Amino acid sequence: MTHATMITLAGRPVGRVGYGTMRLTGPNALGEPDRPDELVALLRTAVDSGVRLIDTAGYYGPSVANRLVARALAPYPEELVIATKIGAARTPDGGFRPDTSPESLRRQVEQNLRELRLDCLPLVHFRYLPGGPTPFLDVLSLMIDFQREGLIGELGLSHVTVEQFDQAAALTPVASVENQARFGAAEPDPVLARTAEASIPYLAYRPLENGALLRTDGPLRRLAGETGIAPATLALAWLLDRSPNLVVIPGTTSADHLAENLAAADVVLDDRLRHALTEGN
Ligand SMILES: NC(=O)c1ccc[n+]([C@@H]2O[C@H](COP(=O)([O-])OP(=O)(O)OC[C@H]3O[C@@H](n4cnc5c(N)ncnc54)[C@H](OP(=O)(O)O)[C@@H]3O)[C@@H](O)[C@H]2O)c1
Repeated sequence: MTHATMITLAGRPVGRVGYGTMRLTGPNALGEPDRPDELVALLRTAVDSGVRLIDTAGYYGPSVANRLVARALAPYPEELVIATKIGAARTPDGGFRPDTSPESLRRQVEQNLRELRLDCLPLVHFRYLPGGPTPFLDVLSLMIDFQREGLIGELGLSHVTVEQFDQAAALTPVASVENQARFGAAEPDPVLARTAEASIPYLAYRPLENGALLRTDGPLRRLAGETGIAPATLALAWLLDRSPNLVVIPGTTSADHLAENLAAADVVLDDRLRHALTEGN
């Protein structure tokens, strides 16, 4: 079976390979990139090649990824879903911290609207990090307020457990979950099955483990040699094979890599290849 079918996200059909913008910045998702014009061209190529989901955040750069997205793609084609995130901020050492005071959440929504040049953010994920000043469900209540004001369209969750998903879903419709799904993991993230039951997309972030997966001389490389399919294509196809509601959102700064990543939607994993990829890890 190929993974070339479309699934519905924020009311629009999207393919199962999206694009993540975290790498459009300087190193460690901070600062300006060396060649912004090339990245603008790459974003346009992505959409021309069929990408229908761009995953971004105001805290990539900060502001750098959002501005490149707007420069490349605004005004956005009707069929494109721009998904962003709130609830996190950067630390001076390049890490992430929770940022969930009511004032700050509103500021983050306004920042995304301004930088992405939108009147309404179609899909906003609450990027949960432990230790924020506002309880989990209170953040969602604030996001529902933003929805009522027309500032955000649909509401999603990121980096959550099944328990958090269930609590949120009891309060409000959840459009999608963005969690990390690991290539080769014996047991999938339990949230994947929960989102499948709820018939909503599961967006698998950092699906190539930030490239680390492809740098090791393991079974992916060997099987790529045997099949003639690029290692990244194989890894993404393996993830897509886990569940029909899973969408991968790899990030890349290379047009060749973009093509390899998009090719994952067309790869058919037979039992032998699925087994070899799974067992090899
Ligand atoms: N919700 C969250 O908390 C969260 C957290 C992390 C990430 N994300 C989202 O997930 C997206 C993806 O994560 P990520 O960008 O950190 O990591 P990733 O997609 O797992 O890996 C990106 C890295 O892999 C390389 N790469 C991509 N395609 C390749 C290919 N075909 N062959 C060889 N190398 C390839 C890229 O280098 P090149 O540029 O050279 O291709 C880049 O260094 C982010 O952009 C972001 O949108 C969300």
